[in-house]
Order: sequence, then C-alpha cells, then structure tokens
Amino acid sequence: MKRGIFIVIDGLDGAGKTTAIEHLKKVFAGRDDVVFTREPGGTPEAEELREFFLRTREQPLEKATEILLVEAARAEHLAKVIVPALLDEKLVICDRFDVSTYVYNVPKDDTSLESLFRETNRRVVGSSAPDCYIFLNLPPHVSLERSRGRGDETRFDEASLEAYFERRTRYMDFFNFAFNSNVKIVDAEQSIAAVCAEVELCVLNFCRE
Ligand code: TMP
Repeated sequence: MKRGIFIVIDGLDGAGKTTAIEHLKKVFAGRDDVVFTREPGGTPEAEELREFFLRTREQPLEKATEILLVEAARAEHLAKVIVPALLDEKLVICDRFDVSTYVYNVPKDDTSLESLFRETNRRVVGSSAPDCYIFLNLPPHVSLERSRGRGDETRFDEASLEAYFERRTRYMDFFNFAFNSNVKIVDAEQSIAAVCAEVELCVLNFCRE
C-alpha cells in the first residue's frame, strides 16, 4: 500500500532543532501535503499529557510511568494525526519521537525498562515507524552550555555533563538497533543557517528517493 513519508527530527537540547523546524515550516509554507507535529503531543489529549509530563519537574515520575505516559500520548498521536496523514500520502515532519523516549526515559543498563520500552513502542508504533531520523549532533558540553544559556530549562536540561554524554551515546545506540530506518546525522556545531540548510537538503533528498 502506498503511504506518505514520515521524518523525525531529533537532537540534544540546544542543537537548533526548533530553529531548523521553523525553517522547514517556511520552506513548506502553504503546502497542505506537509504536516508538522511534535512529541510528546500532537493532539489536544496528547498535548495535555505533555503538559503533565513536563510539570513533574519537582517530583519526578517513575521511569516506567514516564515510558508508559509518552507511549500513551504516542498512541493517540499516531492514530489521530500521523497514520491518517501517511495514508493520505502526506509528508509528516515530527519534532522528536520514540528515540527521545529511549534516550530520556530508559535508564542505561536497566534491562527490564528497556524491554518495557521496546515491547510497548513496537506495539504502539506498529507498521508506522519513521522512514528517516534526522539527528542534530552536538558535543555534549556545547549542548549543556547552550541549554543553560537559553534560560528555559526543563528538568531534563539540568542534568550533568556526564548525563549529556550518556544521552548522546544513547541516541547512537538507538540508531544502531532501529536499523530499518534511515538516519541522517547533521553537525549542529555549524552556524544555525548551515544547520537549517543541511536539514532542508536531507528532507528534500529523502522525499526524492
Ligand atoms: P522539546 O524541548 O523538544 O519540546 O521536548 C520536551 C522534553 O521532553 C525534552 O526535554 C525531551 C523530553 N521527552 C521525553 O522525555 N520523552 C519523550 O518521549 C519525548 C518525545 C520527549
């Protein structure tokens, strides 16, 4: 069955993901065959789950709760937004997706939570896995400096440099086992204009493939 194209843009905090997506919105302005969305979120109910999720800064949730919460939001998002758009042969560009769950919510070396994530995510995502991940890659110390300087820290931004290193390793681990998808790595240490141009090129090239 023909379907559209599903592209995820992800990266460490401060890598320029938001600016790159704003740039893509201008590139595709007026195109009703292109859908921009984000995770956690993307539907009114999933956005409510997002707000709740991000509000838990003072009293962090159990990791299992975090995983199940974002997967619940993902199930809504897929069913109501992503899958219908793909069936309409649209291009879906999503700000973060399952790779962020793996990186932010599954602790390293916790095989039980890793299984919970893999099994739940496999069932939730089903045959609608992303066709391509564009990963904005940044040295962890730059990511930490940039997100501290931004002044809009969430509890995830307050992690130590070590945690940032860990996160980048986790991105790479995920991309190694999500072998069915294309992964394009963009050097996010370049100027923001260069990052935007490279992300645009990745999307346009992928759509031509
Ligand atoms: P944002 O800053 O890109 O909007 O993302 C909000 C935060 O949510 C970010 O710090 C990463 C976190 N997050 C998770 O913890 N799990 C997830 O599954 C997703 C998609 C995001």
